[in-house]
Amino acid sequence: MALHIGSVAPDFTQESTEGPIKFHEWIGNHWAVLFSHPKDFTPVCTTELGRVAALKPEFDKRDVKVLAVSVDDVTSHKNWVGDIEDTQKVKVNYPILGDADKKVAKLYDMIHPEWNDTLTVRSVFVIDSNKKVRLIITYPASTGRNFDEILRAIDSLQLTDKYSVATPVDWKHGQDVIIAPALKDPAVLKEKFPKGYKELRPYLRLTPDPSK
Ligand code: BEZ
Repeated sequence: MALHIGSVAPDFTQESTEGPIKFHEWIGNHWAVLFSHPKDFTPVCTTELGRVAALKPEFDKRDVKVLAVSVDDVTSHKNWVGDIEDTQKVKVNYPILGDADKKVAKLYDMIHPEWNDTLTVRSVFVIDSNKKVRLIITYPASTGRNFDEILRAIDSLQLTDKYSVATPVDWKHGQDVIIAPALKDPAVLKEKFPKGYKELRPYLRLTPDPSK
């Protein structure tokens, strides 16, 4: 069955560079990002894995665990890690799943046969602490992802879970947010948004980031 936003993230047990991972147990009460790579020892993937290692403190701040997967086995991943660390000047500080049997790739529909029968595309799944899929992004193999954008989207998801708001185009943590159009009661608005708001249209009301 196709995975959608709101689906329960499929559980699995699979070997990784840091030992076996039972996915739901490994997520625990945290959030997670699961992201796939077409193949080991490929240039774009090497840069992506390095970037994620450099950004790991930013994922930690948001209580998000990171997990990479590629269809090669763990022995190959461990050899590749040396190259990633050498060329990207970072320590790979998160696990990479071995997926030679393509168990995870199939569960998460990471293989797009019209492109390639065996390799995964660049999929990203953001999963919350209830194990629900909250965001799905798919890039072709030739386009490296922007992990700053993934952090930005996580900021939006975590903020909008807590407050009755949505985040506008290109929003970054700390900038004004949009009040949910369904909120109309002036008393409720005053209580929820004590800093007030600007009404550009009845359906477009901006208020300072309520988490600040
Ligand atoms: C890469 O990571 O560089 C890559 C992998 C598969 C196809 C194209 C590029």
